[in-house]
Amino acid sequence: MPENQVLVEIKDLHTYFFLAEGVVRAVDGVDLVIKRRQTLGVVGESGCGKSITSLSLLRLIPPPGRITQGEILYYKPSAGDNGSVDVINITALNPNGREIRDIRGNQISMVFQEPMTAMSPVRTVGQQIIEAIMLHQKVNKAEARKRAIEMLARVKMPKPERTIDDYPFQLSGGMRQRAVIAMALSCHPHLLIADEPTTALDVTTEAQILDLMRSLQNELGMAIMYITHNLGVVAEMAEEVAVMYLGKVVEQTDVKTIFLEPLHPYTQGLLSSIPRLDESIMRGEKRRRLQMIKGMVPDPYTRLKGCPFHPRCPKVIGDVCDQVEPASIWVRPGHMVRCHLYAEAVKSGPAPSH
Ligand SMILES: Nc1ncnc2c1ncn2[C@@H]1O[C@H](COP(=O)(O)OP(=O)(O)OP(=O)(O)O)[C@@H](O)[C@H]1O
Ligand SMILES: [Mg+2]
Repeated sequence: MPENQVLVEIKDLHTYFFLAEGVVRAVDGVDLVIKRRQTLGVVGESGCGKSITSLSLLRLIPPPGRITQGEILYYKPSAGDNGSVDVINITALNPNGREIRDIRGNQISMVFQEPMTAMSPVRTVGQQIIEAIMLHQKVNKAEARKRAIEMLARVKMPKPERTIDDYPFQLSGGMRQRAVIAMALSCHPHLLIADEPTTALDVTTEAQILDLMRSLQNELGMAIMYITHNLGVVAEMAEEVAVMYLGKVVEQTDVKTIFLEPLHPYTQGLLSSIPRLDESIMRGEKRRRLQMIKGMVPDPYTRLKGCPFHPRCPKVIGDVCDQVEPASIWVRPGHMVRCHLYAEAVKSGPAPSH
């Protein structure tokens, strides 16, 4: 399968929640590209729309939320793996229809923020993985059980022939997350969406799970959309990084450039807020959420004129940033930023390129 081909393209996606109190613009014009076999890291403070973007991709938005605008295109690799693709417009599918159910959990699967919510507490690990396999693959129960045990062994679950008959509550947090990953990978998806998959784990187990995901990615050749607050994890896992703020992607480029040459003042703020390890240890903190940038994220019902980051921006340009919303600017192929500071670059700037 050729690398570097686009697998998913999200264009101008808007997902809103229509509540009695007002409209929550959870995703408000997101553009994103996920390439085959690549890991895209998605970062941003709490509430910026990371999870809702990924749930939109699977058409799992609960009412009163809905996708109001934009497109999600899935370039589905052909069964013969001969390089050809079928283009599926995910936003046009019936959210309960056969087509999306065939994609969900099979071609695109998800590991959620909290492993306990991903598994039913009243059924064994094995029952749940076997069901996922039988739903998408034409195999009988005995064969599905064999594959489930193989998958549990692959995610380095101790004694998989025994653990398969355990209930989720009988497992430790790390083992539970391994089971969830085994379930998500049991159908060999083209894309794995991992939404803070290690937040609930201690640092050692987190490192093991990250290693595991990387090696399975190489082995299975899948893309990963890795959602996290933790820029250290992004540096370790991602090739591309998208930085989100208030429902928009404000910067996207390769991982090296994000760390060495961040352009958006918001990205710069996130990077300077990474706690230094020695300082965190002194304070006895194991991990910390990113929230060191001056000011607070505005409440989700507010719609700000101009750039959504302008009230908190240390480089705000008067009469511009509070008036005009910045467009996506490609400062060079492969580096997009939404910020007026770089408006000059766009005049002679290169065209977008994936
Ligand atoms: N079911 C819902 N009903 C109403 N608003 C919602 C719902 N789910 C999410 N939102 C709102 O949508 C916005 C984006 O939420 P989202 O869960 O995508 O944030 P996030 O970036 O994943 O945050 P976190 O890092 O805390 O997981 C937030 O303002 C949130 O309050
Ligand atoms: Mg989230």
